[in-house]
Amino acid sequence: MYYTRQPHPAGLGDAIYRARSFVGEEPFIVMLGDDLMNDKVTLTKQLIDEYDKTHASTIVVMKVPHKEASKYGVIDPGDMLDKDLYNVKKFVEKPAVDKAPSDFAIIGRYLLTPEIFDILEKQKPGRGGEIQLTDAIDTLNQTQRVFAHVFKGQRFDVGNKEGYLETSIQYGLRHPETHDALRKYIIELAHELEKK
Ligand code: G1P
Repeated sequence: MYYTRQPHPAGLGDAIYRARSFVGEEPFIVMLGDDLMNDKVTLTKQLIDEYDKTHASTIVVMKVPHKEASKYGVIDPGDMLDKDLYNVKKFVEKPAVDKAPSDFAIIGRYLLTPEIFDILEKQKPGRGGEIQLTDAIDTLNQTQRVFAHVFKGQRFDVGNKEGYLETSIQYGLRHPETHDALRKYIIELAHELEKK
């Protein structure tokens, strides 16, 4: 295990850059801790399987309602290369809803080649005055192919209060240690709330 600290919240790109010496010259995976993913094959394995075929950086996207696109990095998908795999034309960090090039939002898993670090080293602040990973990926896409893998599983976002509470309930109901007691509690609570 290796830990690094970001002393100031200077953006996702700045945070990832701090892993440069640990990663070295190898492709690597970024997993944002506030995005939890569920699928039969883990999403990380899905990304590694794509990489084995393409040897290219691949980011994960998911369709979101159009009005929510401005909360995410969004792609202009370009051609579909394979089932659930696009050769991306453009990456835009949190565009205005009317400027969003598609409804494909970037979610918190990325497989990146180490050339991203040379770009992040020189990356100027973007949206919100922060160093944006999305901007660096857009630059990488001009010299190497960058693909988007469409995720079809379930995503839980614990980066907001409501999502955090819902995810805790969902995971508590799935876990054998907590399932029975939590289920009972929820049913009792629902009855109580109905009476009110
Ligand atoms: C970050 C990325 C954004 C991505 C999102 C996924 O934004 O900058 O491109 O769509 O994670 O959760 P944040 O949620 O940190 O604002």
